[in-house]
Amino acid sequence: MNFEITVDRWAWPGLGMGYYQGKATFLAAVLPGERVLAQTVKAGKNHLEARLVEVLEPSPARIPSPCPHFPDCGGCGLLHLSYEDQLVLKEQQLNEIAQRAGLKVTAGFTPSPQPWGYRHKANLKSGGGKLGLNRYRSAQVLAVPECKVFSAGLKQAFSGLEPNREADLAALESQDTGQVALVWLEKNRQQPLSGFGQQVFEDYGQGRLELTAAGFAQSNPAVTRLILADLLSAARGYGRIAEHYAGAGTLSLGLALGAEQYFGYETHKKAVELGNRNLKAHGVQSGQIRESNAEAALLPDSAQLLVVDPPRAGMASALINKAIHSKLEAVLYLSCDPMTQARDLARLVQEGGFGLVWLKGYDMYAQTGHQEALALLVR
Ligand SMILES: C[S@@+](CC[C@H](N)C(=O)[O-])C[C@H]1O[C@@H](n2cnc3c(N)ncnc32)[C@H](O)[C@@H]1O
Repeated sequence: MNFEITVDRWAWPGLGMGYYQGKATFLAAVLPGERVLAQTVKAGKNHLEARLVEVLEPSPARIPSPCPHFPDCGGCGLLHLSYEDQLVLKEQQLNEIAQRAGLKVTAGFTPSPQPWGYRHKANLKSGGGKLGLNRYRSAQVLAVPECKVFSAGLKQAFSGLEPNREADLAALESQDTGQVALVWLEKNRQQPLSGFGQQVFEDYGQGRLELTAAGFAQSNPAVTRLILADLLSAARGYGRIAEHYAGAGTLSLGLALGAEQYFGYETHKKAVELGNRNLKAHGVQSGQIRESNAEAALLPDSAQLLVVDPPRAGMASALINKAIHSKLEAVLYLSCDPMTQARDLARLVQEGGFGLVWLKGYDMYAQTGHQEALALLVR
């Protein structure tokens, strides 16, 4: 059933929020001040999630989407907003989230050097005879041949590919070498497509790293370089560094090269192997990455700096407890979820006696409501 609603304000990540029959209602592709026709996609006890059906009274800030797949595609949520307005919104949301968590900080926000064609890592779904991305709030697959955020190399690699009844597709293009890795993610194995490898070599400014399409890789290499420059400059001066959620070593290489002692941890066995190969290939002698989940909260007594880059759920509570009762001098916390990051930072500040020196947002996911943020805490 369709219903009319006025959008009162923004909600994270880049959603509009209004009230329908007294229930907070969240929907994408709308702007504050707009009157729209919407349709419920999920009804919770106290809130509704809805889909935009038609804009009845548009905001003056609305722009025509440059992408024909918007707003059906679940990939980009902010294509109805100019890039300048997206940056203002994201900086505002990062600051509001931090302040609501009780953090005293004013965060700046760094744009993506490439707001279009920046996405070098993507997973495509196979389904319903199509290869593409999920429709917004749906398991249905939508083919997205006109996608404006995929890199040119990925788009070329995707063109003409047929869906696979058994598997989704993982893809990674190196901005450094132009190599593309394409892999079918079958149930028990990863099958590279003919003519493509499973891994590429990427350089974020510290030396070439081997990264796999099936494993984790940062989406936007140009923004990753900017983050790494800030992270490594803040890590300078700390000789004994521990890192959790190390992955295949994107942050670890620069950290370990600059450290006297480096202690890395990561849960995923293949990422641990690859991460250590990456460290070894660059002659790292300060330490290695060990297989351990963050819940085990391994943290050597001697560590001065802890670096974390957890998934959206945030830092393992046991690791926060360990950091609170440790002799750590500083924490660098990188995150793709400002909500869980602010929650964890607040605990480290309130219970661990750390001071939040700065919080910086980066537009890792331009045209979407998401962002990356890095915080420095010191004692
Ligand atoms: C956001 S990625 C960051 C990886 C790395 N920093 C990078 O930039 O490539 C998060 C990493 O945490 C790992 N991870 C997820 N859950 C974990 C857990 N409970 N304990 C330890 N590592 C975990 C994932 O395998 C992944 O490599």
